[in-house]
Amino acid sequence: MKDIIQLKDRRFKVMITAEEIDRAVQTVAEQINRDYADCETPIFLGVLNGSFMFLSDLIKKIEFENEISFVKLASYEGTASTGNVKNIIGLNGSVEGRHIIIVEDIVDTGKSMAHMVEELKEHNPASVEICTLFFKPNSYQGSANIKYHAMDIGNEFIVGYGLDYDQVGRSLKDIYVVTE
Ligand code: IMP
Ligand code: MG
Repeated sequence: MKDIIQLKDRRFKVMITAEEIDRAVQTVAEQINRDYADCETPIFLGVLNGSFMFLSDLIKKIEFENEISFVKLASYEGTASTGNVKNIIGLNGSVEGRHIIIVEDIVDTGKSMAHMVEELKEHNPASVEICTLFFKPNSYQGSANIKYHAMDIGNEFIVGYGLDYDQVGRSLKDIYVVTE
């Protein structure tokens, strides 16, 4: 592992190692295993691109029968005033009556998740919960309960383990934080 890396115009330094991430993923998987033990075939709904690595590690630790699906959030085009509103792309198959666990890389202001939960609820699922690898509690402005958050961080900008800086850095197995 390199301690300092350069991505485009920024320098980043190691903040959280792959081993620490794995321990946090294990803890959150155990919570989910307890909570969903009696639910019929929940659906893990990964939000692309950022969640791919987290979901792939999380799902290996899940002990109940499940389905896996992926969606993308696309900025709503048409009105400038709704710049933060993102629509769900790729929701195929019915989620009606199903237990949904949204899997996200990071919840920051919470705007993306707030809209996603709202849109999903129009499809009448049995339940919707959010499972995020990283949570920025000081930045969060949402009202939705973030039931599963593997690690809480400050307002710093991080990359790696699926998270990108201008599309690069997603493949790093450790988490790096931007330096001055
Ligand atoms: P929110 O709608 O403000 O909660 O933003 C969530 C989205 O912003 C995440 O899914 C990421 O794509 C992106 N994001 C927020 N913070 C970071 C960060 O520190 N590193 C990389 N992406 C981030
Ligand atoms: Mg994301």
